[in-house]
Amino acid sequence: MMKRAALIVSLGVATVAVGQTQPARLTNAQDHQRLLDLLGIKELRPGANPNNPTAPNAANHDEAKASPYTTLPDPLVCLDGSVVKTPEQWWTKRRPEIVELFDREIYGRVPKNVPAVKWSASPITRGKTGSIATATRQLTGQVDNAAFPALSVAIEATIVTPADATGPVPVVVEFAFRMRRPSTATSRPAASRPQASAPAGPTWQEQVLAHGWGYVLLYPTSYQADNGAGLTEGIIGLTNKGQPRGVEDWGALRAWAWGASRLIDYLEADSAVDAKRLAIEGLSRFGKATAVTMAYEPRFAVAFIGSSGQGGVKIARRDFGERVENVASDAEYHWMAGNYLKYAGPLTPNDLPVDAHELVALCAPRPVFISVGSLNVEGTWIDAVGNFLGGVHAGPVYELLGRKGLGVSQIPAEQVGLTDGDIAFRMHEGGHTTGPNWPAFINFADRYFARPTMPR
Ligand code: GCU
Repeated sequence: MMKRAALIVSLGVATVAVGQTQPARLTNAQDHQRLLDLLGIKELRPGANPNNPTAPNAANHDEAKASPYTTLPDPLVCLDGSVVKTPEQWWTKRRPEIVELFDREIYGRVPKNVPAVKWSASPITRGKTGSIATATRQLTGQVDNAAFPALSVAIEATIVTPADATGPVPVVVEFAFRMRRPSTATSRPAASRPQASAPAGPTWQEQVLAHGWGYVLLYPTSYQADNGAGLTEGIIGLTNKGQPRGVEDWGALRAWAWGASRLIDYLEADSAVDAKRLAIEGLSRFGKATAVTMAYEPRFAVAFIGSSGQGGVKIARRDFGERVENVASDAEYHWMAGNYLKYAGPLTPNDLPVDAHELVALCAPRPVFISVGSLNVEGTWIDAVGNFLGGVHAGPVYELLGRKGLGVSQIPAEQVGLTDGDIAFRMHEGGHTTGPNWPAFINFADRYFARPTMPR
């Protein structure tokens, strides 16, 4: 077993590809090391240690020490130094530059040859959520695997709409955690952290349905596993015919976002759904996926980004809680492009050509709601201030496009929502969940969904 794995590793990406009928098998650590070898990197700095305050790499929780770097890349200054003054310059010049940098260095490129998806829906199951009659269907997006039959990939989702709706309804898509995955023996649970308990009162699903909207639970790990060993499988592996990634190839976040885009292809053809009024929501690693989805997929009208932290909307140049080095480790690197590893050694976060505020800026002018939990309950790991600043520094791009940013640069107190602009922020009273922020998000999204035309 070890011998076989070692042989595959030593062959490297370029030579192993020809004629293989089975996916390459690498552990997270082997695949991580393979990327370091491709990048010519000897060693990465360790991530922040949240458990030992006296460790040399102890996580910083002191705001006074959080900003070792003083400048951020300016979203409105082009690589040639010219300043963006018009929406046209943003759309035609600066935005494509930022997309290219995120593609190449941070999240990776979606290949041109991703196979097609064919959707099917189960018959409707009628039921009730609270007092609301519902219509539920299981959706399956089967991916064409003719080019590499050893891998079978399907996007799994559940759609629930109010059964008594008189017309197409807005729909909230959630990147849903699922603890068990029947189809792959190698995957581990999507969330390593226990989920925060649900707040009292109606569930978010009940709240959404009571508002006349529907929802979809989209299971990202049905089509891309949440670990490095799974990168030669799932949609990334299938597209790459079972071979390991190159350093610019997509990571799991972009793969998960790809699935959300394919889901829209289905929703656009579903007469129960108003596909011009779609929201995307997710927490933690799926909060990161939510931000990436919104940035790259213009058909989502509004996003609810929950505690996305490092690799999400947290400013990477802040040293507070989790670090770039944590995400670059062999436990989490699979979310990102291989090139991202460079910024955990020898480069530093200060060398990142783009930072998280520019990910938010890619969503402009569409509305985004940035959510975090209480510092006392959720803790400091995800860096609430860093997530807030990701929204603050995207403001100039929203304003250039005639919209309103957060308008302040000091983080508001817990439970004080900043929701009047097109970038919203709220720190709720709970832990690592979007739970208590649902009422505020629904009000925020309603402002847009109630309009005859949505911002584009
Ligand atoms: C870790 C990781 C975070 C991530 C979280 C999760 O805490 O450092 O970046 O968001 O796991 O997804 O549960």
